Amino acid sequence: MLFRGPVLSSDNPPESVDLRSDTVTRPSAGMRAAMAAAEVGDDVYGDDPTVNRLQAQIAERFGFESALFFASGTQSNLAALMSHCGRGDEYLVGQEAHTYKYEGGGAAVLGSIQPQPLENEPDGSLSIQRIGNAIKPNDIHFARTRLLALENTIGGRVLQPPYLRQVTEFAHERRLSTHLDGARIFNAIVKLGIAESAAVAGFDSVSVCLSKGLGAPAGSVLLGSREFIEQARRWRKALGGGMRQAGVLAAAGLYALQHHVQQLAQDHANAEYLAQELRALGLEAETPQTNILYVDIPARLAGDLKSHLQQRGILATITPRTRLVTHRDAPREKIETALQAFRDYPHWNS
Ligand SMILES: Cc1ncc(COP(=O)(O)O)c(C=O)c1O
Repeated sequence: MLFRGPVLSSDNPPESVDLRSDTVTRPSAGMRAAMAAAEVGDDVYGDDPTVNRLQAQIAERFGFESALFFASGTQSNLAALMSHCGRGDEYLVGQEAHTYKYEGGGAAVLGSIQPQPLENEPDGSLSIQRIGNAIKPNDIHFARTRLLALENTIGGRVLQPPYLRQVTEFAHERRLSTHLDGARIFNAIVKLGIAESAAVAGFDSVSVCLSKGLGAPAGSVLLGSREFIEQARRWRKALGGGMRQAGVLAAAGLYALQHHVQQLAQDHANAEYLAQELRALGLEAETPQTNILYVDIPARLAGDLKSHLQQRGILATITPRTRLVTHRDAPREKIETALQAFRDYPHWNS
C-alpha cells in the first residue's frame, strides 16, 4: 500500500519507530557498501553488468526465461498490464489490489485497459466462480477480457499454492493470461518455506519488489518469457524509460536477495508479537500471516492516539482499521518501544 502520513523530517528522526510501511526501510551498511562497489554501465544499452546479473539471478530463481529491472513496482506492474493487454482489453483484478486501487488508475489512464474489479474473499483470493462470471463473451458490446491479475501477499495474507494452481489453470483454460503483483512475494515464500519457482507457478508474469521488506532503496523486477519481456522493455521506455547506471540500485537488490530474505521471518514474528500484546490491552488485533497487522482502534480515539504516538517517535497510520507493518528497521527493541507508547496511552477506557 502506498505511503500515507507525515513526511519524515527532523520531527521524525531515523531513530523513531516507523510502522507505516516496510517501504520505509533504509539500506543497511552492507547494502550501501555493495552499492558503492557496484560495477556499472549504461543499462539502456544493456551494458550494466550488475543489472544484468540481478535480472539473470531473479529469472533463474523464479524459473522464468527473462527479467527486466524497473524503477518501481508501479512502473513494472503497468508495463506488465500493457504487455498483456491492448486498447479495449480488460483485466480482472481484486477490489483491494494495488494495481487497481493504489496505482493512479494507470492501466485505464495510460494503457486504455478496462479494469474489471472483483470483490476479494476474506482470505484475499478471488473466487473462481466470480472470475468465470466476469469473463465477457466475444461480442462487440464488451471489452475483451484478456488477463487475470492477482497479488501475493495481499494485505499481508498469503495466497496458498493449491488455490493459485487452480485459479491459474482456470484462467488459462478460459484463454486469459495471468499476472502476479509479487511486491511481497518473498514474505509468502518465507512464510510457506517453499522455493521461489513454486510460489509463482502458473503465472505468465510476476513483478517482484526489492524496496519493501527486502530493504533496497528502489527497484522492482518483472519476470516473463523472453518475448513478453521484450514487449515490456518497449513499454518501460514509454513509461519514463530505463535507468542508466542502475547497477548501484541493482547491487542493493542482489545484496538483499543474499542477506535479507530469511530475515523476513523475524518481521513476521514481530507482527505476531505486536498483535498479542495489543490484544492484552483489550484491542481487537487480527492474527497476522506475515508482516502486516490490522487492529481496530475506536474511532473516537484515533486522532488523539496518533498524536500521542507521534510525540513519542512512533509513526503509524492510525484509523479505525489501523494497519501496522513490521520490517527490518523495526527490530524487537523498537517494537517494545512502540508497545510501551500504546500501553501509556491514557484514554483506552474513556
Ligand atoms: C502490493 C504492492 N504492489 C505494488 C506496489 C508499488 O511499488 P512501488 O511503491 O515501488 O511503486 C506496492 C507499494 O507499496 C505494493 O504494496
